[in-house]
Amino acid sequence: MERILLTALLAGHAAIWNVLGFDEVRVRLGSVEGSRCSGRVEVFKGERWGTVCSRGWDLRDAAVVCRELDCGFAFSTQAGALFSRSSGEVWWRNVRCSGDEFTLDLCERTPNDKVCPHNEDAGVECTDKLPAPTLTMQSPFCAYSAGEAVLFTCTAPYWRHPIDLYLYKSGVDTPLVTQRADFRQTRVELTLSDLETSHQGSYSCLYRLQGNPGNSPSSNIINITVLEIHTPQIWYNTSQMVRPGWVNRGQSFNVTCSTQPQYPGGSFQLRLIRPNGTVRHSLPALAPFVTFSFSNAQASNEGYYCCLYKVQFGGRTFVSRESQPLAINVRGADPILSPVVISLLVSGLTFVTATCAILIVAKVYCKRVRKPTELERESRTCVDNTYIALTIK
Ligand SMILES: *[C@@H]1O[C@H](CO)[C@@H](O)[C@H](O)[C@H]1NC(C)=O
Ligand SMILES: *[C@@H]1O[C@H](CO)[C@@H](O)[C@H](O)[C@H]1NC(C)=O
Repeated sequence: MERILLTALLAGHAAIWNVLGFDEVRVRLGSVEGSRCSGRVEVFKGERWGTVCSRGWDLRDAAVVCRELDCGFAFSTQAGALFSRSSGEVWWRNVRCSGDEFTLDLCERTPNDKVCPHNEDAGVECTDKLPAPTLTMQSPFCAYSAGEAVLFTCTAPYWRHPIDLYLYKSGVDTPLVTQRADFRQTRVELTLSDLETSHQGSYSCLYRLQGNPGNSPSSNIINITVLEIHTPQIWYNTSQMVRPGWVNRGQSFNVTCSTQPQYPGGSFQLRLIRPNGTVRHSLPALAPFVTFSFSNAQASNEGYYCCLYKVQFGGRTFVSRESQPLAINVRGADPILSPVVISLLVSGLTFVTATCAILIVAKVYCKRVRKPTELERESRTCVDNTYIALTIK
Protein backbone atom coordinates (compact mmCIF):
# COMPACT_ATOMS: atom_id res chain seq x y z
CA MET A 1 0.00 0.00 0.00
CA GLU A 2 2.75 2.38 1.01
CA ARG A 3 4.70 1.49 -2.10
CA ILE A 4 1.81 2.19 -4.42
CA LEU A 5 1.25 5.56 -2.78
CA LEU A 6 4.92 6.42 -3.07
CA THR A 7 5.01 5.42 -6.74
CA ALA A 8 1.93 7.53 -7.43
CA LEU A 9 3.47 10.47 -5.67
CA LEU A 10 6.72 10.17 -7.55
CA ALA A 11 5.21 9.75 -10.98
CA GLY A 12 5.87 12.85 -13.03
CA HIS A 13 7.45 14.60 -10.11
CA ALA A 14 11.14 14.79 -10.90
CA ALA A 15 11.79 17.15 -8.00
CA ILE A 16 10.97 14.38 -5.54
CA TRP A 17 13.24 12.02 -7.46
CA ASN A 18 15.97 14.54 -6.93
CA VAL A 19 15.26 14.79 -3.22
CA LEU A 20 15.45 11.02 -2.98
CA GLY A 21 18.65 10.94 -4.95
CA PHE A 22 17.14 9.66 -8.23
CA ASP A 23 18.18 12.54 -10.41
CA GLU A 24 16.68 11.78 -13.80
CA VAL A 25 19.03 12.97 -16.49
CA ARG A 26 18.16 12.87 -20.18
CA VAL A 27 20.03 14.06 -23.23
CA ARG A 28 18.91 15.44 -26.58
CA LEU A 29 20.48 17.42 -29.38
CA GLY A 30 18.94 20.79 -30.06
CA SER A 31 18.97 21.88 -33.67
CA VAL A 32 17.02 24.43 -35.68
CA GLU A 33 16.81 21.91 -38.54
CA GLY A 34 15.18 19.49 -36.16
CA SER A 35 17.87 16.88 -36.76
CA ARG A 36 17.78 14.31 -33.99
CA CYS A 37 21.43 13.23 -34.38
CA SER A 38 23.33 16.50 -34.50
CA GLY A 39 23.04 19.71 -32.56
CA ARG A 40 23.66 21.51 -29.31
CA VAL A 41 23.98 19.06 -26.42
CA GLU A 42 21.03 19.54 -24.08
CA VAL A 43 20.67 17.84 -20.73
CA PHE A 44 17.44 17.44 -18.79
CA LYS A 45 18.17 17.65 -15.11
CA GLY A 46 15.96 18.63 -12.20
CA GLU A 47 12.93 19.36 -14.41
CA ARG A 48 14.80 21.73 -16.69
CA TRP A 49 16.73 21.52 -19.90
CA GLY A 50 20.20 23.06 -19.86
CA THR A 51 23.41 22.75 -21.84
CA VAL A 52 27.03 21.57 -21.44
CA CYS A 53 30.15 23.72 -21.70
CA SER A 54 32.51 22.87 -24.54
CA ARG A 55 35.56 23.34 -22.31
CA GLY A 56 37.12 19.89 -22.10
CA TRP A 57 34.50 18.52 -24.52
CA ASP A 58 35.98 16.04 -26.98
CA LEU A 59 35.05 13.21 -29.31
CA ARG A 60 34.97 10.63 -26.57
CA ASP A 61 32.27 12.64 -24.83
CA ALA A 62 30.51 13.16 -28.15
CA ALA A 63 30.69 9.41 -28.84
CA VAL A 64 28.77 8.73 -25.63
CA VAL A 65 26.02 11.18 -26.62
CA CYS A 66 25.73 9.57 -30.06
CA ARG A 67 25.50 6.16 -28.46
CA GLU A 68 22.97 7.26 -25.86
CA LEU A 69 20.73 8.68 -28.59
CA ASP A 70 21.22 5.60 -30.79
CA CYS A 71 22.70 7.83 -33.47
CA GLY A 72 25.81 5.77 -34.24
CA PHE A 73 29.28 7.32 -34.23
CA ALA A 74 30.55 10.74 -33.28
CA PHE A 75 31.59 12.49 -36.45
CA SER A 76 32.66 15.81 -34.96
CA THR A 77 32.31 18.12 -31.99
CA GLN A 78 30.87 21.29 -33.45
CA ALA A 79 30.27 24.42 -31.42
CA GLY A 80 26.73 24.16 -30.05
CA ALA A 81 26.00 27.77 -31.01
CA LEU A 82 26.07 26.67 -34.67
CA PHE A 83 22.96 24.57 -34.19
CA SER A 84 20.38 26.43 -32.15
CA ARG A 85 19.71 29.21 -29.70
CA SER A 86 20.68 28.58 -26.14
CA SER A 87 18.24 28.17 -23.33
CA GLY A 88 18.32 27.34 -19.67
CA GLU A 89 21.39 26.90 -17.60
CA VAL A 90 24.81 25.56 -18.49
CA TRP A 91 24.95 22.53 -16.19
CA TRP A 92 28.38 21.03 -16.60
CA ARG A 93 31.88 21.77 -17.81
CA ASN A 94 34.97 19.61 -18.23
CA VAL A 95 33.03 16.44 -19.05
CA ARG A 96 35.45 13.50 -18.96
CA CYS A 97 33.97 10.38 -20.60
CA SER A 98 36.21 7.41 -21.28
CA GLY A 99 34.12 6.82 -24.41
CA ASP A 100 32.70 3.49 -23.23
CA GLU A 101 29.86 4.85 -21.08
CA PHE A 102 26.29 4.14 -22.11
CA THR A 103 24.99 7.55 -21.06
CA LEU A 104 26.50 10.98 -20.60
CA ASP A 105 25.29 11.00 -17.02
CA LEU A 106 27.80 8.25 -16.21
CA CYS A 107 30.75 10.46 -17.18
CA GLU A 108 32.78 12.49 -14.72
CA ARG A 109 32.29 16.26 -14.92
CA THR A 110 32.51 19.49 -12.99
CA PRO A 111 29.47 21.64 -12.15
CA ASN A 112 29.58 24.75 -14.28
CA ASP A 113 28.95 27.25 -11.45
CA LYS A 114 28.36 30.02 -13.98
CA VAL A 115 31.95 29.81 -15.25
CA CYS A 116 31.09 29.01 -18.84
CA PRO A 117 28.69 31.16 -20.91
CA HIS A 118 26.17 29.85 -23.45
CA ASN A 119 28.25 30.83 -26.45
CA GLU A 120 30.65 28.04 -25.42
CA ASP A 121 27.99 25.33 -25.48
CA ALA A 122 29.08 21.90 -26.69
CA GLY A 123 27.69 20.40 -29.88
CA VAL A 124 27.83 17.01 -31.57
CA GLU A 125 27.46 15.58 -35.07
CA CYS A 126 26.71 11.89 -35.19
CA THR A 127 26.68 9.56 -38.15
CA ASP A 128 24.89 6.26 -38.17
CA LYS A 129 27.09 4.38 -40.61
CA LEU A 130 30.83 4.38 -41.29
CA PRO A 131 31.62 4.14 -45.00
CA ALA A 132 34.09 1.46 -46.11
CA PRO A 133 37.68 2.49 -46.92
CA THR A 134 39.52 1.68 -50.17
CA LEU A 135 42.63 -0.47 -50.40
CA THR A 136 45.12 0.11 -53.21
CA MET A 137 48.64 -1.06 -53.90
CA GLN A 138 51.42 1.25 -54.97
CA SER A 139 53.01 -1.32 -57.25
CA PRO A 140 51.00 -2.33 -60.32
CA PHE A 141 52.04 -5.98 -59.72
CA CYS A 142 50.55 -8.53 -57.40
CA ALA A 143 53.51 -10.96 -57.38
CA TYR A 144 56.47 -10.46 -55.06
CA SER A 145 59.54 -12.41 -54.11
CA ALA A 146 60.24 -13.38 -50.53
CA GLY A 147 62.04 -10.63 -48.66
CA GLU A 148 60.44 -7.80 -50.60
CA ALA A 149 57.95 -5.30 -49.14
CA VAL A 150 54.42 -4.46 -50.35
CA LEU A 151 53.12 -0.94 -49.94
CA PHE A 152 49.37 -0.82 -49.50
CA THR A 153 47.43 2.42 -49.23
CA CYS A 154 44.22 2.48 -47.23
CA THR A 155 42.02 5.48 -47.96
CA ALA A 156 39.31 6.33 -45.45
CA PRO A 157 36.68 9.06 -45.70
CA TYR A 158 37.47 12.43 -44.21
CA TRP A 159 37.06 12.54 -40.45
CA ARG A 160 37.73 15.48 -38.24
CA HIS A 161 39.77 13.49 -35.79
CA PRO A 162 42.38 10.74 -35.82
CA ILE A 163 41.54 7.27 -37.03
CA ASP A 164 43.34 3.95 -36.67
CA LEU A 165 43.73 1.89 -39.83
CA TYR A 166 44.29 -1.84 -39.91
CA LEU A 167 45.52 -4.19 -42.61
CA TYR A 168 43.97 -7.65 -42.38
CA LYS A 169 44.86 -10.87 -44.16
CA SER A 170 41.88 -13.12 -44.73
CA GLY A 171 41.89 -16.03 -42.33
CA VAL A 172 43.95 -14.14 -39.73
CA ASP A 173 42.06 -12.59 -36.81
CA THR A 174 44.58 -9.96 -35.80
CA PRO A 175 45.65 -7.10 -38.06
CA LEU A 176 49.09 -7.48 -39.67
CA VAL A 177 49.73 -3.75 -39.79
CA THR A 178 48.22 -0.94 -37.71
CA GLN A 179 48.70 2.73 -38.44
CA ARG A 180 47.27 5.90 -36.97
CA ALA A 181 46.16 8.64 -39.32
CA ASP A 182 46.48 12.17 -38.07
CA PHE A 183 43.77 14.76 -38.06
CA ARG A 184 42.67 15.50 -41.65
CA GLN A 185 44.77 12.65 -43.06
CA THR A 186 42.72 10.18 -45.03
CA ARG A 187 45.36 8.11 -46.86
CA VAL A 188 47.73 5.93 -44.93
CA GLU A 189 50.50 3.65 -46.11
CA LEU A 190 50.38 0.18 -44.66
CA THR A 191 53.67 -1.55 -45.41
CA LEU A 192 54.04 -5.29 -45.22
CA SER A 193 57.79 -5.80 -45.13
CA ASP A 194 60.08 -8.81 -45.37
CA LEU A 195 57.52 -10.94 -47.21
CA GLU A 196 57.40 -14.68 -46.68
CA THR A 197 55.47 -17.25 -48.67
CA SER A 198 52.99 -17.42 -45.77
CA HIS A 199 52.04 -13.82 -46.59
CA GLN A 200 50.47 -14.95 -49.85
CA GLY A 201 46.72 -14.36 -49.74
CA SER A 202 43.88 -11.84 -49.72
CA TYR A 203 44.18 -8.47 -47.99
CA SER A 204 41.73 -5.78 -46.92
CA CYS A 205 41.77 -2.79 -44.60
CA LEU A 206 39.37 -1.14 -42.21
CA TYR A 207 39.45 1.74 -39.75
CA ARG A 208 38.21 2.71 -36.35
CA LEU A 209 37.33 6.23 -35.26
CA GLN A 210 39.22 7.10 -32.15
CA GLY A 211 36.96 7.03 -29.12
CA ASN A 212 34.17 5.23 -30.98
CA PRO A 213 33.40 1.57 -30.63
CA GLY A 214 33.18 -0.69 -33.64
CA ASN A 215 35.00 -0.93 -36.92
CA SER A 216 34.19 0.39 -40.33
CA PRO A 217 33.17 -2.20 -42.93
CA SER A 218 36.09 -3.88 -44.74
CA SER A 219 37.57 -2.43 -47.90
CA ASN A 220 37.88 -4.16 -51.24
CA ILE A 221 40.19 -7.20 -51.42
CA ILE A 222 43.65 -7.37 -53.00
CA ASN A 223 45.33 -10.72 -53.62
CA ILE A 224 49.10 -11.07 -53.59
CA THR A 225 51.38 -13.96 -54.51
CA VAL A 226 54.75 -14.43 -52.82
CA LEU A 227 57.38 -16.44 -54.69
CA GLU A 228 60.41 -17.98 -53.14
CA ILE A 229 62.93 -18.96 -55.80
CA HIS A 230 65.53 -21.38 -54.50
CA THR A 231 69.20 -21.00 -55.32
CA PRO A 232 70.19 -23.63 -57.90
CA GLN A 233 72.85 -26.28 -57.34
CA ILE A 234 75.71 -26.69 -59.82
CA TRP A 235 77.98 -29.59 -60.66
CA TYR A 236 79.85 -30.97 -63.64
CA ASN A 237 80.97 -34.28 -65.10
CA THR A 238 83.32 -35.29 -67.85
CA SER A 239 83.93 -38.56 -69.70
CA GLN A 240 87.38 -38.94 -68.16
CA MET A 241 87.35 -37.54 -64.67
CA VAL A 242 91.00 -36.75 -63.86
CA ARG A 243 90.67 -34.98 -60.56
CA PRO A 244 88.07 -32.63 -59.11
CA GLY A 245 87.94 -29.27 -60.86
CA TRP A 246 89.80 -30.49 -63.95
CA VAL A 247 88.84 -31.51 -67.50
CA ASN A 248 91.22 -32.88 -70.11
CA ARG A 249 91.70 -30.70 -73.15
CA GLY A 250 89.59 -31.85 -76.11
CA GLN A 251 87.25 -33.89 -73.88
CA SER A 252 83.56 -33.20 -73.54
CA PHE A 253 82.10 -32.06 -70.24
CA ASN A 254 78.65 -31.22 -68.93
CA VAL A 255 77.72 -28.55 -66.41
CA THR A 256 74.37 -29.22 -64.72
CA CYS A 257 72.14 -26.69 -62.95
CA SER A 258 69.33 -27.94 -60.75
CA THR A 259 66.61 -26.45 -58.57
CA GLN A 260 63.17 -27.28 -57.17
CA PRO A 261 60.99 -25.69 -59.85
CA GLN A 262 57.88 -24.48 -57.92
CA TYR A 263 57.31 -21.99 -60.67
CA PRO A 264 57.63 -23.75 -64.04
CA GLY A 265 58.24 -22.10 -67.37
CA GLY A 266 61.50 -20.49 -66.35
CA SER A 267 65.02 -20.87 -67.65
CA PHE A 268 68.46 -21.63 -66.30
CA GLN A 269 71.32 -19.29 -66.99
CA LEU A 270 74.92 -20.39 -66.83
CA ARG A 271 77.55 -17.72 -66.37
CA LEU A 272 81.23 -18.37 -66.98
CA ILE A 273 83.45 -15.82 -65.27
CA ARG A 274 86.90 -15.53 -66.82
CA PRO A 275 89.62 -12.94 -66.26
CA ASN A 276 88.95 -11.49 -69.71
CA GLY A 277 85.17 -11.42 -69.65
CA THR A 278 81.96 -13.21 -68.86
CA VAL A 279 80.14 -15.73 -71.10
CA ARG A 280 76.45 -16.48 -70.63
CA HIS A 281 74.40 -19.48 -71.74
CA SER A 282 70.69 -19.98 -71.27
CA LEU A 283 68.40 -23.02 -71.53
CA PRO A 284 64.66 -23.38 -70.84
CA ALA A 285 63.92 -25.27 -67.63
CA LEU A 286 61.97 -28.20 -69.07
CA ALA A 287 62.99 -30.36 -66.09
CA PRO A 288 64.17 -29.66 -62.52
CA PHE A 289 67.70 -29.65 -63.96
CA VAL A 290 69.33 -28.77 -67.26
CA THR A 291 72.69 -29.78 -68.67
CA PHE A 292 74.95 -27.42 -70.55
CA SER A 293 77.16 -29.57 -72.80
CA PHE A 294 80.65 -28.58 -73.93
CA SER A 295 82.02 -31.02 -76.53
CA ASN A 296 85.61 -29.85 -76.82
CA ALA A 297 87.24 -28.47 -73.69
CA GLN A 298 89.62 -25.60 -74.43
CA ALA A 299 91.44 -22.92 -72.46
CA SER A 300 88.46 -20.66 -73.22
CA ASN A 301 86.26 -22.96 -71.10
CA GLU A 302 88.32 -22.35 -68.00
CA GLY A 303 86.95 -20.19 -65.21
CA TYR A 304 84.22 -20.09 -62.63
CA TYR A 305 80.73 -21.32 -63.55
CA CYS A 306 77.59 -20.13 -61.76
CA CYS A 307 73.94 -20.77 -62.50
CA LEU A 308 70.70 -19.03 -61.68
CA TYR A 309 67.01 -19.63 -62.29
CA LYS A 310 64.84 -17.03 -63.96
CA VAL A 311 61.04 -17.11 -64.27
CA GLN A 312 58.24 -14.75 -65.27
CA PHE A 313 55.20 -14.46 -63.03
CA GLY A 314 52.44 -11.88 -62.71
CA GLY A 315 54.08 -9.55 -65.23
CA ARG A 316 57.45 -9.55 -63.48
CA THR A 317 60.70 -11.44 -63.90
CA PHE A 318 62.04 -13.20 -60.84
CA VAL A 319 65.66 -14.23 -60.63
CA SER A 320 67.14 -16.61 -58.08
CA ARG A 321 70.38 -16.08 -56.24
CA GLU A 322 73.40 -17.36 -58.12
CA SER A 323 74.71 -20.80 -57.22
CA GLN A 324 78.06 -21.40 -55.57
CA PRO A 325 80.85 -20.87 -58.12
CA LEU A 326 82.26 -24.01 -59.71
CA ALA A 327 85.91 -23.77 -60.82
CA ILE A 328 86.90 -25.69 -63.98
CA ASN A 329 90.48 -26.00 -65.22
CA VAL A 330 91.38 -27.54 -68.55
CA ARG A 331 94.39 -29.82 -68.30
CA GLY A 332 96.92 -29.66 -71.12
CA ALA A 333 95.59 -26.27 -72.15
CA ASP A 334 98.80 -24.32 -71.75
CA PRO A 335 98.83 -24.82 -67.99
CA ILE A 336 101.38 -22.09 -67.24
CA LEU A 337 99.15 -19.43 -68.78
CA SER A 338 95.88 -20.95 -67.65
CA PRO A 339 93.75 -18.11 -66.22
CA VAL A 340 92.62 -20.15 -63.27
CA VAL A 341 96.21 -21.09 -62.45
CA ILE A 342 97.22 -17.45 -62.80
CA SER A 343 94.35 -16.37 -60.63
CA LEU A 344 95.35 -18.99 -58.06
CA LEU A 345 98.95 -17.77 -58.14
CA VAL A 346 97.88 -14.16 -57.84
CA SER A 347 95.56 -14.93 -54.96
CA GLY A 348 98.26 -17.02 -53.29
CA LEU A 349 100.67 -14.12 -53.62
CA THR A 350 98.05 -11.66 -52.38
CA PHE A 351 97.32 -13.95 -49.49
CA VAL A 352 100.99 -14.07 -48.50
CA THR A 353 101.30 -10.29 -48.86
CA ALA A 354 98.10 -9.74 -46.95
CA THR A 355 99.18 -12.12 -44.21
CA CYS A 356 102.50 -10.32 -43.87
CA ALA A 357 100.76 -6.97 -43.76
CA ILE A 358 98.34 -8.26 -41.19
CA LEU A 359 101.13 -9.62 -39.04
CA ILE A 360 102.75 -6.20 -39.11
CA VAL A 361 99.47 -4.43 -38.38
CA ALA A 362 98.67 -6.94 -35.69
CA LYS A 363 102.01 -6.29 -34.08
CA VAL A 364 101.36 -2.57 -34.10
CA TYR A 365 97.74 -2.61 -32.96
CA CYS A 366 97.67 -5.96 -31.16
CA LYS A 367 94.55 -6.75 -33.18
CA ARG A 368 93.94 -9.29 -35.88
CA VAL A 369 92.47 -7.85 -39.04
CA ARG A 370 92.49 -9.90 -42.19
CA LYS A 371 91.91 -8.56 -45.68
CA PRO A 372 89.91 -10.79 -48.04
CA THR A 373 92.12 -12.31 -50.68
CA GLU A 374 91.67 -12.02 -54.44
CA LEU A 375 90.37 -15.55 -54.61
CA GLU A 376 87.82 -14.92 -51.94
CA ARG A 377 86.66 -11.76 -53.60
CA GLU A 378 86.47 -13.43 -56.97
CA SER A 379 84.37 -16.30 -55.72
CA ARG A 380 82.11 -13.94 -53.83
CA THR A 381 81.04 -12.08 -56.95
CA CYS A 382 78.78 -14.99 -57.76
CA VAL A 383 77.28 -15.37 -54.35
CA ASP A 384 76.89 -11.71 -53.50
CA ASN A 385 74.08 -11.31 -56.01
CA THR A 386 70.88 -11.14 -54.08
CA TYR A 387 67.38 -11.71 -55.35
CA ILE A 388 66.71 -9.28 -58.09
CA ALA A 389 63.16 -8.88 -59.22
CA LEU A 390 63.31 -7.13 -62.55
CA THR A 391 60.35 -5.32 -63.92
CA ILE A 392 59.55 -5.94 -67.55
CA LYS A 393 59.73 -2.71 -69.41
C1 LIG B 1 41.34 -13.33 -54.51
O1 LIG B 1 41.50 -14.70 -54.29
C2 LIG B 1 40.31 -15.34 -53.87
C3 LIG B 1 40.65 -16.77 -53.50
O2 LIG B 1 41.82 -17.20 -54.05
C4 LIG B 1 39.28 -15.25 -54.98
O3 LIG B 1 38.10 -15.90 -54.59
C5 LIG B 1 39.00 -13.80 -55.27
O4 LIG B 1 38.12 -13.68 -56.37
C6 LIG B 1 40.29 -13.05 -55.56
N1 LIG B 1 39.96 -11.63 -55.60
C7 LIG B 1 40.51 -10.75 -56.43
C8 LIG B 1 40.05 -9.36 -56.31
O5 LIG B 1 41.33 -11.08 -57.24
C1 LIG C 1 76.56 -34.81 -71.43
O1 LIG C 1 75.16 -34.78 -71.68
C2 LIG C 1 74.77 -35.40 -72.87
C3 LIG C 1 73.31 -35.24 -73.05
O2 LIG C 1 72.80 -34.19 -72.31
C4 LIG C 1 75.15 -36.88 -72.82
O3 LIG C 1 74.80 -37.49 -74.05
C5 LIG C 1 76.63 -37.00 -72.60
O4 LIG C 1 76.95 -38.36 -72.42
C6 LIG C 1 77.03 -36.23 -71.35
N1 LIG C 1 78.48 -36.27 -71.23
C7 LIG C 1 79.10 -36.52 -70.10
C8 LIG C 1 80.55 -36.45 -70.15
O5 LIG C 1 78.50 -36.81 -69.07
